[in-house]
Amino acid sequence: MTRWLVVGAGGMLGQDLCAALEAAGIAFTASRSADLDIRDHDACSRVVSEHGIIVNCAAYTAVDDAESHEAEAFALNAVGAANLARAAREHGARMVQVSTDYVFAGDADEPYAEDAPLAPRSAYGRTKAAGEWAVEAHCPESWIVRTAWLYGAGGGNFVKTMARLAGERETLSVVDDQRGQPTWTVDLADAIVRIVTSNAPFGVWHGTSSGETTWHGFTQEIFRQLGLDPARVEPTTTDAFPRPAPRPAYSVLGHEGWRMARLAPLPDWRESLAKALPSVVPSV
Ligand SMILES: NC(=O)c1ccc[n+]([C@@H]2O[C@H](COP(=O)([O-])OP(=O)(O)OC[C@H]3O[C@@H](n4cnc5c(N)ncnc54)[C@H](OP(=O)(O)O)[C@@H]3O)[C@@H](O)[C@H]2O)c1
Repeated sequence: MTRWLVVGAGGMLGQDLCAALEAAGIAFTASRSADLDIRDHDACSRVVSEHGIIVNCAAYTAVDDAESHEAEAFALNAVGAANLARAAREHGARMVQVSTDYVFAGDADEPYAEDAPLAPRSAYGRTKAAGEWAVEAHCPESWIVRTAWLYGAGGGNFVKTMARLAGERETLSVVDDQRGQPTWTVDLADAIVRIVTSNAPFGVWHGTSSGETTWHGFTQEIFRQLGLDPARVEPTTTDAFPRPAPRPAYSVLGHEGWRMARLAPLPDWRESLAKALPSVVPSV
């Protein structure tokens, strides 16, 4: 049986991917940064050998820090991805590269198609776009899976922050002028397993929930599902929260690839939030 290598296995997505592989009875090696530094090509080649599927969940994910540390972000998101892709090609393996909505400009008014032109506006987005190109160039037998607005039990994220703030403040102001698709890492892990095991076409896939909302709408739904009053969540604008990295106003990704391949897209974000809350915020 083909053995999988999960790179970045200790991260938020990596942990849920390992759980999904375990549940599916798929043999895999979980690799953390202490086991493999993906900036080291020779080490990548050594670790990749004897694996048929390489999933890269490792990344420099600090979007704001990347603005002042673009070289470090590039070393991981572009060079690291390239190292894994070269090693995958060398050993006849296939690769899944996890990418992001930040590769787009975020100024559209309809969902981004899988083949929409890239136009990143942030350092993080530029380095992830370079990672996509590197993987496509070095390992044509690869799937680029773009995701966005991720939350899960195994990492710090928006859902945990909002649940904590709900206990600390009477009202919260949350931006209502950025649209996207909140996505549970368990759904994304399942989507990655389905893409690979169904031998879906190589190329770009959009691994985000169905439906869309704003951060404000998302927070109101978190409150509602936690039995709290959603009126405590007030709308505000992006301008009220200046950040080093520009935020995309519109990050909704289209799911045509799923339809074309006759595979079920990821569930609606509200449905998944309801399933996720007991594990993501168990103490609430
Ligand atoms: N989080 C989001 O909202 C979001 C949105 C869109 C796309 N994505 C993409 O989704 C993927 C997973 O994100 P995530 O939130 O699960 O990330 P995460 O929790 O920040 O995990 C990233 C992982 O990368 C590992 N790593 C760091 N430096 C490394 C190195 N030199 N060599 C090998 N591994 C290294 C880290 O390991 P250590 O902890 O051991 O250092 C960590 O486990 C990434 O590709 C990210 O770009 C995330």
